[in-house]
Amino acid sequence: MILEKNNFPNFEEAKQELNEIMDSESADNIIEIANYFQLCQAATNAVGARLENLDTDYQINSSHNPIHHMEERMKSMESLSGKMKRKNLEFTYDNLVNNIYDIGGLRVITNYPEDVYTVANALTSHPGIKILKKRDYIAKPKENGYRSLHIVLEVPVYLQDGIRHTAPVEVQIRTIGMDLWASLEHKLKYKTNIPAEELEQYSQQLKENSDELNQVEMSMENIFTKINQKSSLIHN
Ligand code: GTP
Ligand code: MG
Repeated sequence: MILEKNNFPNFEEAKQELNEIMDSESADNIIEIANYFQLCQAATNAVGARLENLDTDYQINSSHNPIHHMEERMKSMESLSGKMKRKNLEFTYDNLVNNIYDIGGLRVITNYPEDVYTVANALTSHPGIKILKKRDYIAKPKENGYRSLHIVLEVPVYLQDGIRHTAPVEVQIRTIGMDLWASLEHKLKYKTNIPAEELEQYSQQLKENSDELNQVEMSMENIFTKINQKSSLIHN
């Protein structure tokens, strides 16, 4: 398993980038926002460490590791400011804290569909972990065919001031197939040089592919479960 870390800014870089995207009136917020970014980064690191420990535990103590690989990323200032604009929100500290939960994010890619819930349960069934938000797009896929389990955790962060801070971290858990699908769909979403008709056709095709992928993954999971039961019978 690899935990790939992307786009972790340092404090000075974050402040500088913020300066560039904010207008001078809201510049008072910069320190507050940069501090919040630091909190989110610490919280993301903490969840990353928990997941790495889980991965090792599965590796050592289980016949099957549900985790295929993981990715960890901080939202770039550019994408953050784009999201605030889309949501019609002024770029202020209060709006950020009350509306954006994915400044820090992790993605866990699992082998089989059932593994998604195994990882989700293992990650959340500990005292001290609070779930702020949960969206199960596997049980109920999005209209376009998107499948994934999204959980926003409230994570405590310990700093030198002794105060109990918390920050949200978004964890997306999905299978290899669901991840492959989401990457292609994401690409399609940002293609502006393709005629609308063609785009519509690809979207339709992707929607069908999502169901097909789901069937294949369920069928493979079924085979895997059966083989696993047989091999555990032999070993016991
Ligand atoms: P926002 O993050 O404010 O949009 O909140 P939300 O509650 O609508 O979040 P949601 O859980 O629906 O989606 C959050 C993230 O999931 C996005 O930033 C994407 O990374 C991913 N995502 C959601 N829907 C799709 C989709 O249709 N296609 C792809 N490729 N990714 C998606
Ligand atoms: Mg959304």
